[in-house]
Amino acid sequence: MGSLLLLGRNTFGDPANKGNILTREEALTLLHEWVPNERLRLHMKQVAFLMQRWAAEKEYLDEAGQWRWEMSGLLHDADWDQWPDEHCNKIITELEKRNIDPEIMHAIASHGPYHFGVDPETAMDKMLYAFDELSGLIHAYSLMRPEGYKGMELKGVKKRLKEKSFAANVSREEITDASDRARIALDDLINFIILHQPLVH
Ligand SMILES: [Fe+2]
Repeated sequence: MGSLLLLGRNTFGDPANKGNILTREEALTLLHEWVPNERLRLHMKQVAFLMQRWAAEKEYLDEAGQWRWEMSGLLHDADWDQWPDEHCNKIITELEKRNIDPEIMHAIASHGPYHFGVDPETAMDKMLYAFDELSGLIHAYSLMRPEGYKGMELKGVKKRLKEKSFAANVSREEITDASDRARIALDDLINFIILHQPLVH
């Protein structure tokens, strides 16, 4: 399942920094400085928005809680563009330097358990893993549809999922595994993404 970038550790940051997170401005500045690739930035904004909406609508978190989820989505691939060999060690180390809450780093570290060797544990970890690849496939599908996201249906997405040649770099195994680990039916994840992702530009 893709490349191995094992982190070789399972704990991140200092528990004393619990509750310490970046401001929205700081996170966006980091995103724009580290990620010149507009498509990758869009991917992270999409995942961030899905995380924020899930935190609000399904986890009933307050605004501060929603922002934690959103931030982990916003930065999860921040180092992919310029330092693919150090993904996701580079961003984790940066956030450790900035004394950020370990839970944020853990979510980023576990967004690809078969790449980084860290299992998703919290609900935030699991949803980041669940949204990452699936939202990418759904976005790719929107780009090949004349009307983009408009009128997109669950059955169309499922057809693309079965079609191995479509967005072939998106791991179907990881999508299934992430849905299993989060204990959220794949259909529910797809419907949630279809509903929210078009709002992100
Ligand atoms: Fe990603």
